[in-house]
Amino acid sequence: MRNTPTLAETKQRLERTGQEHLLAFWESLDDARRAELLAAIATLPLEHLGSMLSQAASLAKPAASEIRPVRPYMRGMADAEKYRTIGDDLVRRGKVAAFIVAGGQGTRLGWKGPKGTFPATPVAGKPLFRVFAEQIMAAERAYGVRIPWFVMTSEANHDETERFFEDNRWFGRPRGDTMLFAQGMVPSVTLDGKVMLEHAWQPALNPDGHGGSLKALRQAGAIDHMQASGIEHLCYFQVDNPNVHVIDPLFLGLHVAAPDSSAEMSSKSVLKRDTTEKVGVFVKAPRLTVLEYSDAPKEISDARDASGEIIYGEGSIAIHVIGVEFIRKLTDHPLGSVLPWHRAIKKVPFVDPATGQRTEPAEPNAIKLESFVFDALHEAESPIVLRTDRVEEFAPIKNASGEDSPATSKAIQVERAVRWLKEAGVPVPCHANGQPDCAIEISPLTARGPDDLRRHPPAKAIVAGSEMLL
Ligand code: UD1
Repeated sequence: MRNTPTLAETKQRLERTGQEHLLAFWESLDDARRAELLAAIATLPLEHLGSMLSQAASLAKPAASEIRPVRPYMRGMADAEKYRTIGDDLVRRGKVAAFIVAGGQGTRLGWKGPKGTFPATPVAGKPLFRVFAEQIMAAERAYGVRIPWFVMTSEANHDETERFFEDNRWFGRPRGDTMLFAQGMVPSVTLDGKVMLEHAWQPALNPDGHGGSLKALRQAGAIDHMQASGIEHLCYFQVDNPNVHVIDPLFLGLHVAAPDSSAEMSSKSVLKRDTTEKVGVFVKAPRLTVLEYSDAPKEISDARDASGEIIYGEGSIAIHVIGVEFIRKLTDHPLGSVLPWHRAIKKVPFVDPATGQRTEPAEPNAIKLESFVFDALHEAESPIVLRTDRVEEFAPIKNASGEDSPATSKAIQVERAVRWLKEAGVPVPCHANGQPDCAIEISPLTARGPDDLRRHPPAKAIVAGSEMLL
């Protein structure tokens, strides 16, 4: 462990990098705060900040003329069974781990705790983390293997997340099979590149985006740990989607064995619901790229073919399989990762170094830098996309109400449960319009799909108007 630099060393470094204002309140701080400030400054990437900011400012968005649609694999493809068997084998041989990014704050949802603690399911109200843990446990049972689960938190929610896992006894899985670690932080800076102060003794920081997850995995020792235990592929997913198939053998099989896949990185899509849906889309420009909804030129997002199909319709549901060796390659970099920085201009409250006043800005006053995991697709040798079914795998909870809210997510979860039951030949009471006349939740520990329900149908008939947890 390196010692914290002294005041004199810190002053020199700040002068060299044009950030002297960070010590503006030194004289007024007590010893503990002084030590805190020196330690915080020591972690700031001040020597690189200029190049990070100019790289972010010059990040080119693809022009409409260079954008082409992608050709995804389809869930119902002819040789799906072959790839599923390959994926099954991979899981059974312990080559796979699960990885959730759960560092975000859930601000849009208006939930106070970590988003993974949000009660998400339609009947039992299970929190998101439990849904994922049970899925992993169900896969462990089905394959007779241990599947490590890596959970990325952030400074803002790490302790609370850990407490939640502890209070829930790690959801019945051995403690050592879940590894929690916090993502990195980057300084928030003024529009002219000065690191802001959140308090007189504390620079303002923001999480480095889900792209920071790769660097965080590496720094937490997770890459070494995985490679030492023979894990080759990581199933990446977000905290907001209870319908994700965390361990999906077809996806894994395609990732490792599709003729055009390098097994470095693969992604899942769903066909966009309409041209205005707020999801990033997979396009070629000319390499595979996720074009964020806010960045897509209108002629791209609105384009339809002669039959009315959305041309650039492969919506990203933020589910990927990433090769562990590929992550090692991406993170062999002085700054921890090769992923580019994106910038967002935001309102950040700050302490004014000139006056000592804490200021709540009325207008955006700060640059926040973050990186996105899907930018790793650029670096991947030959990434592939699998188009899946939206009800089957996408029920996101993002907003408190309206689109992508707890209500819409629950409706999709019930729709999937009913679909599985019907496929398994179990009668489900419905209204005249075909909508189910019941609320059903299927625990991941009861069934991972219709096949499990066919083998073990529910003991009791489903009664019209009832709520049932299977
Ligand atoms: C995201 C994707 C979008 C995709 C959609 C699908 C981005 C920029 N956009 O949108 O392409 O179509 O999901 O649902 O990602 N997170 C961290 N640390 C961070 C930031 C985020 O762990 O610093 C995690 C969050 O906890 C969450 C996930 O990343 O699990 C997504 O973050 P969010 O910012 O909510 O992305 P969306 O706008 O929902």
